Amino acid sequence: MRKVQLTETVLRDANQSLIATRLPYSKFEPILETIDKTGYYSAEVWGGATFDVCLRYLREDPWERLRKIRAKMPNTKLQMLLRGQNILGYKHYPDDVVRKFVEHSVKNGIDIIRIFDALNDVRNLEVAIDETVKQGAHASGTISFTTSPVHTRQTFVDMVKDLKGMGASSICIKDMAGIMGPQEAYDLVSAIKDAEPDMPLVIHTHCTTGLAFMTYLKCVEAGADVLDCAISPMSGGTSQPATETMAYALREMGYQVDLDDKMLTKTADFFKGVRADFLKDGVLDPISMATDTQCLSYQIPGGMLSNLISQLKTMNAIHKLDEALLETPRVRKDLGYPPLVTPTSQLVGSQAVQNVLAGERYKVVGKEIKAYCRGEYGRTPAPIDPEVQKKILGDTPLVEGRFADGLAPEFEKTKAELGATAKSDEDVLSYIAFPQVAMAFFKDREAGFPKKEEPPKAAAKAAPASAPAAGSTFNYIVNVNGNQYAVAGVVGDAAAPVAATKVAPAPVAAPATQAAPTAPAAGETAVNSPMPGNVFKVECKVGQAVNAGEPLIILEAMKMEIEVAAPCAGTVKAISATVGSAVNTDDLLVTLG
Ligand code: CO
Repeated sequence: MRKVQLTETVLRDANQSLIATRLPYSKFEPILETIDKTGYYSAEVWGGATFDVCLRYLREDPWERLRKIRAKMPNTKLQMLLRGQNILGYKHYPDDVVRKFVEHSVKNGIDIIRIFDALNDVRNLEVAIDETVKQGAHASGTISFTTSPVHTRQTFVDMVKDLKGMGASSICIKDMAGIMGPQEAYDLVSAIKDAEPDMPLVIHTHCTTGLAFMTYLKCVEAGADVLDCAISPMSGGTSQPATETMAYALREMGYQVDLDDKMLTKTADFFKGVRADFLKDGVLDPISMATDTQCLSYQIPGGMLSNLISQLKTMNAIHKLDEALLETPRVRKDLGYPPLVTPTSQLVGSQAVQNVLAGERYKVVGKEIKAYCRGEYGRTPAPIDPEVQKKILGDTPLVEGRFADGLAPEFEKTKAELGATAKSDEDVLSYIAFPQVAMAFFKDREAGFPKKEEPPKAAAKAAPASAPAAGSTFNYIVNVNGNQYAVAGVVGDAAAPVAATKVAPAPVAAPATQAAPTAPAAGETAVNSPMPGNVFKVECKVGQAVNAGEPLIILEAMKMEIEVAAPCAGTVKAISATVGSAVNTDDLLVTLG
């Protein structure tokens, strides 16, 4: 009888996908010993958003949380999610920081580190895998699953071989958007198992589109060894398939599943209470527990679509949603088919919006897209369209080799700078990962965590028009080409799809009236804002001589920095933009003479 093992995600991914990671340690502590006695392959308890949310909202030291879990769960392998060279964020860290982070994760109790990269550039996984192995832990090399003309089964099989060569002890297929269909999964798992029969294979998906249970069964048939599941009250929707259901179905089909059913029942009863509390607080939105198939037709993860909609709304341009949805796959193609996972999903989505709003493709380009096109994020799955790259970068040189090779060590320097503020190496790492958040946490800790007026759950309900918190839900009416749609969805790692239901015919929303461009005096050149946004930085001074192409103003729009450059050489006569102020398309920023 072939054995299939399960990983319990309730404390990390289910917690993150359904309730924006708002489960405090004190709330789940009573069930840890039960989970420990269940017989799981592993318990995913750390990494992903847990680290940031602990510091930012729960006022818990994430390292201390990990140590406490370790003490209560001596028998179960503890697992975390790590973004390779990005650790827990989106920027690249120098190698010494990645190594220190891995070292201390293992020292504080982690057994298995699941390591992935948004672009599947294995060079971004190398150091983290190497250090995990050095620390005596289990490195699970991960494939960010996506579909595109350049993502063939063979490319994934090649990646598995690379990961094995780097020292990975298992492979995980991570389908963050829940778009991997059963047949596709069967073929992919078969191909990997044909090439590497002895490499344990773990499957991770989300129930968002309803495919997950079918996909899991076909993966097992093709030889998958471990499945990520969540205890039933915290399963389904944007979370994972239910642990008990999978165990039942697998046993019925003749597979061996060594889980203690009594412990499962006890854990489920416990989390029914947790679920009820979060439903009552409004942090858990029933929408995030439902099945939503829109994602399958759009082929855009829900988190990305929600960002797109909120950006368009911020720009008073929601009537361009259809155009932006058509532009998105074109941009993805131009940029070399990056997997649509944070942060590349935001890059592609924002650029699509900018192309549509500017009326000219790649006329307005954010700093992050420039960094991406230079190669700062890593190697793209297919080459970037050369013409697009030329238009975006001009003569800016490309990154040679691995971006992190050019980064100076940071750990010891930061430790010295922090001095007595950091009580441990773990504090230094918290600070490097999330500087402002960690500093606020240290100050709070020093003051003995004074009571705050705002409860943590308020943040989980943040308005989507600003920065949507992972796991937060949104719900509003938009007008597209004269049709009114009720739009609802969930933001998060789960990449929940967005429901867009046509509700009733309605008049087209009128675009916002825009300020008329200010006419410059004779001999002067007006530099106007190319798009609505906020003035982030003023990079010039009155009286300064500037060359054509020199940056004058940095705007912040759609969560990106947009450079406004001098259209010609001249002298800065007047600066109309003030830092922090909102500007509309064609508003005067700078006058050149
Ligand atoms: Co996930």
